[in-house]
Amino acid sequence: MVESLTATLGRLQHQRALVSLFTSHRTLFVVLWIVAFASVFVWQRNIVDGFFAFGRGVRQGKPLPRLRPVAFNLTDFGAVGDGVAVNTEAFERAISAISKLGKRGGAQLNVPPGRWLTAPFNLTSHMTLFLAQDAEILGIQDEKYWPLMPPLPSYGYGREHPGPRFGSLIHGQNLKDVVITGHNGTINGQGQTWWKKYRQKLLNHTRGPLVQIMWSSDIVITNITLRDSPFWTLHPYDCKNVTIRNVTILAPIFEAPNTDGIDPDSCEDMVIEDCYISVGDDGIAIKSGWDQYGIAYGRPSTNILIRNLVVRSMVSAGISIGSEMSGGVSHVTVENLLVWGSRRAVRIKTAPGRGGYVKHITYRNLTFDNVRVGIVIKTDYNEHPDEGYDRKALPVLEDISFTSVHGQGVRVPVRIHGSEEIPVRNVTFRDMSVGITYKKKHIFQCAFVEGRVIGTIFPAPCENLDRYDEQEQLVKRSSSQNITDIDYDF
Ligand SMILES: *[C@@H]1O[C@H](CO)[C@@H](O)[C@H](O)[C@H]1NC(C)=O
Ligand SMILES: *[C@@H]1O[C@H](CO)[C@@H](O)[C@H](O)[C@H]1NC(C)=O
Ligand SMILES: *[C@@H]1O[C@H](CO)[C@@H](O)[C@H](O)[C@H]1NC(C)=O
Ligand SMILES: *[C@@H]1O[C@H](CO)[C@@H](O)[C@H](O)[C@H]1NC(C)=O
Ligand SMILES: *[C@@H]1O[C@H](CO)[C@@H](O)[C@H](O)[C@H]1NC(C)=O
Ligand SMILES: *[C@@H]1O[C@H](CO)[C@@H](O)[C@H](O)[C@H]1NC(C)=O
Ligand SMILES: *[C@@H]1O[C@H](CO)[C@@H](O)[C@H](O)[C@H]1NC(C)=O
Ligand SMILES: *[C@@H]1O[C@H](CO)[C@@H](O)[C@H](O)[C@H]1NC(C)=O
Ligand SMILES: *[C@@H]1O[C@H](CO)[C@@H](O)[C@H](O)[C@H]1NC(C)=O
Ligand SMILES: *[C@@H]1O[C@H](CO)[C@@H](O)[C@H](O)[C@H]1NC(C)=O
Repeated sequence: MVESLTATLGRLQHQRALVSLFTSHRTLFVVLWIVAFASVFVWQRNIVDGFFAFGRGVRQGKPLPRLRPVAFNLTDFGAVGDGVAVNTEAFERAISAISKLGKRGGAQLNVPPGRWLTAPFNLTSHMTLFLAQDAEILGIQDEKYWPLMPPLPSYGYGREHPGPRFGSLIHGQNLKDVVITGHNGTINGQGQTWWKKYRQKLLNHTRGPLVQIMWSSDIVITNITLRDSPFWTLHPYDCKNVTIRNVTILAPIFEAPNTDGIDPDSCEDMVIEDCYISVGDDGIAIKSGWDQYGIAYGRPSTNILIRNLVVRSMVSAGISIGSEMSGGVSHVTVENLLVWGSRRAVRIKTAPGRGGYVKHITYRNLTFDNVRVGIVIKTDYNEHPDEGYDRKALPVLEDISFTSVHGQGVRVPVRIHGSEEIPVRNVTFRDMSVGITYKKKHIFQCAFVEGRVIGTIFPAPCENLDRYDEQEQLVKRSSSQNITDIDYDF
């Protein structure tokens, strides 16, 4: 797992402090003596600890931390973790008990090792769902257990079918202070039957996400694995202050349709860091509603930091913005990102009818390892909820920068496909060198884009961009921002 930047910096400072301490020999002697003494002490204590841990460790695994004033055990509510018994009522009873403790700091629900089959259930405020190591919550596959909900107001539709949509396996609305964490336990949507039915067109409603939290704030999701969601995996909708850290998200890279990893949708103040994502659609897709419904709802996604991620997407892209972005998307930073074995690395997608904007987007330190297309901006992603969209609602794309872009095995490093109606403005490239698989011209493809490259860029940038040297002095101003050099054939 990628180590956090702050941890690295902290360690460096620590090392510097130690070096200055050792400058005196006397201090060195005293320190060595203390270290020797401490080692013997720690060694002896480990023997004793190890002895006791052996007895209890085998059945119970790591002891679970107490993170709230009260902790419940799922089994106390009658749950059976055999993968067969349906435990919906146990979850509901446990969460109902927790909902009565909100004023006293809430409570924690421990899910012990086992396979806990359940139908969808709702979370409550001031709760921590803690998944022990080898604990697995399994989504029931029979759709009659999945409740239908009204469409999201900013979509007007269930995303795949008109009318109501299936709710999520784990759901929450109007909550505050919710934590889902653990010792890397798993929430498994068992999406296989849903994907198959979707492909065979046997579903009449949009599939449900794995975890969906709506109109909520102060949400923390860490140290767990999410896998095989029926639809989008983790969907925070119109939420504020959301942290997602050290989460593994898995779904097959082919034939698991729309299994996006994380879709921040009309969300504000969000951090996604130290995650591994390998799924059947976008790794992350930042959204904010669809055409006229998203414009009317009018809630942007803003102030989102995404860092230290390893992502794989063979069907779509590592990190996307859009295509539903009608409420606007701004102030997004993506840094220290590795995208490997993927179709596209980072993509912004939109279309006439969306309205809204994508602006103030910063990409820094991106590594592409065997991806077909590195950076993509697409302005004709013509998928609409219905015929009622306003074709004149044109999105604005501007102030987008790429700094330190590296990698190897890339076929088309850049494809920025602006149009006369939706030109892309103020794009900046600085410090880019990407190893390519085809020594062909025109692999840095542009159309209707205005902006600059600073310093040396490899492969050679398109003519549409102004050239600046390393000192940021203008070398050549482009007079051909609008020429089109896009080739989808390779
Ligand atoms: C929960 O209850 C089960 C069954 O009684 C027990 O095996 C397990 O150790 C308990 N776990 C915790 C964390 O209390
Ligand atoms: C969860 O709460 C929402 C909103 O109150 C409701 O529509 C939905 O049916 C609930 N889901 C379950 C599984 O109870
Ligand atoms: C990430 O989660 C795993 C499993 O829960 C844990 O062992 C590891 O220490 C966590 N890493 C960080 C940086 O929190
Ligand atoms: C957590 O579990 C997943 C799935 O089993 C595994 O791929 C991942 O490496 C584990 N994460 C950590 C930090 O141990
Ligand atoms: C879907 O709708 C069709 C037509 O109304 C109906 O025949 C079919 O039984 C429905 N399928 C499900 C799974 O509800
Ligand atoms: C964000 O949520 C976290 C976790 O609940 C909380 O500790 C923090 O105070 C919240 N931040 C703000 C600004 O409300
Ligand atoms: C995640 O796991 C790491 C290592 O066990 C721990 O230090 C950290 O506090 C955990 N994060 C949360 C939010 O529980
Ligand atoms: C760039 O990102 C990679 C992970 O993709 C990380 O290993 C490296 O330390 C980062 N470099 C800087 C200068 O932060
Ligand atoms: C262009 O975008 C950069 C950020 O990438 C911003 O600092 C700058 O002010 C923008 N320039 C104009 C003219 O808006
Ligand atoms: C390029 O197209 C944009 C909008 O489509 C227009 O505003 C601009 O004047 C054009 N620039 C040139 C040099 O033709």
